[in-house]
Amino acid sequence: MRVAVVGKGGSGKTSVSGVLARTLAQAGHRVVGLDCDTNPNLGLSLGVGDLETERLLSLRDQIDEGEQAHAHTWADILDSYGVDAPDGVRLTVVNRIDNPEPD
Ligand SMILES: Nc1ncnc2c1ncn2[C@@H]1O[C@H](COP(=O)(O)OP(=O)(O)OP(=O)(O)O)[C@@H](O)[C@H]1O
Ligand SMILES: [Mg+2]
Repeated sequence: MRVAVVGKGGSGKTSVSGVLARTLAQAGHRVVGLDCDTNPNLGLSLGVGDLETERLLSLRDQIDEGEQAHAHTWADILDSYGVDAPDGVRLTVVNRIDNPEPD
């Protein structure tokens, strides 16, 4: 199942995404959170803290600027550019995903 949360600025997208992801993970589902916001702060809702949230944004910037290699599979993306959040959610911060090869 894929769930996209969109809406106006300040409407509660990040809060809803965080609660939904953590609730599903607590219920035993495998949950991957993809933060595609220009100002990504899902890490705060998921509980990884300021430093990890900023580190993931910095990694995304480095990829965009060609300083870090693109990952080519979902597994690589989550392994290289993800972090484990409390409750079992795997979080990554991405602008877009270009045709990842199947794992
Ligand atoms: N259900 C709610 N009840 C009360 N306050 C809420 C609720 N959901 C979100 N808020 C508050 O509203 C503000 C915006 O929430 P949030 O950051 O989740 O929105 P957003 O849509 O992700 O914002 P942005 O567009 O800036 O990314 C925050 O201060 C948050 O605490
Ligand atoms: Mg937000």
